[in-house]
Amino acid sequence: MRYLVTGANRGIGLEFVKQLTSRGEEVIATARNVDDAKALKTLAGTHNNLTIISLDVSKDDSIDALSASVGEELDVLINNAGCYGHSGVFPDLDFDLLERDYRINAIGTLKVSAALLESLKKGKGKIIASVTSKMGSIGDNSSGGSYSYRMSKTGLNMASRSMAHDLSKHDISVFVLHPGWVQTDMGGSNALINTQTSVEGMLKTIDKATLDHSGRFWEWNGNEIQW
Ligand SMILES: NC(=O)c1ccc[n+]([C@@H]2O[C@H](COP(=O)([O-])OP(=O)(O)OC[C@H]3O[C@@H](n4cnc5c(N)ncnc54)[C@H](OP(=O)(O)O)[C@@H]3O)[C@@H](O)[C@H]2O)c1
Repeated sequence: MRYLVTGANRGIGLEFVKQLTSRGEEVIATARNVDDAKALKTLAGTHNNLTIISLDVSKDDSIDALSASVGEELDVLINNAGCYGHSGVFPDLDFDLLERDYRINAIGTLKVSAALLESLKKGKGKIIASVTSKMGSIGDNSSGGSYSYRMSKTGLNMASRSMAHDLSKHDISVFVLHPGWVQTDMGGSNALINTQTSVEGMLKTIDKATLDHSGRFWEWNGNEIQW
């Protein structure tokens, strides 16, 4: 199967690439700055099924170039790239940061999915899995704050739910995954699980996903999360 993972130069994205390449899948890994993606390049040195492509999900020309280089068929798109901006405490919010995070987490993910639709239609896997966060769940929000991150991930969730409806006619399953609180640059060292555990869990859901999984919100351990 042929996979594409965005934001794959570190953290959860890099772990997706490690686990997928080690089981023999063909993987396209994207990084904003390929020259600096040392861990990916080291991996590519020992896995000839790994290709590294440059992608900034907030830039249209970068997304256009991506779809041209992905080629005819793609089985599984894993939208992992994301950012967490500290946008301040209401009402003193950094609205520029809010716009930046929305552009990356919500709109960027939607644009990448749109750009790769034709390749996904031709692939056999027919999956768009996007890494969101429980912080984007409206039902789970019992503490407020984190406007930038919460709003951008809620936007991603809604985009995924709409795509799930719109792409069912092509048999493409579209869902979102909460990776848990994970030890990465974003999650910090106090986080509860490591990238290996998180990605092993999320891949179990991706591997068995059918149209029944589409339009739903899955936790790394396979539990379902309320919207
Ligand atoms: N860690 C957690 O506890 C946690 C919890 C819930 C959800 N998540 C989600 O899990 C995903 C991965 O997070 P992580 O913990 O692995 O974070 P991370 O270590 O900070 O890595 C984030 C990745 O996203 C990339 N990225 C950021 N902005 C981008 C852009 N405009 N275009 C393309 N790539 C971009 C980064 O690239 P650069 O290296 O170039 O910056 C990096 O590869 C994110 O969507 C995040 O929101 C994480």
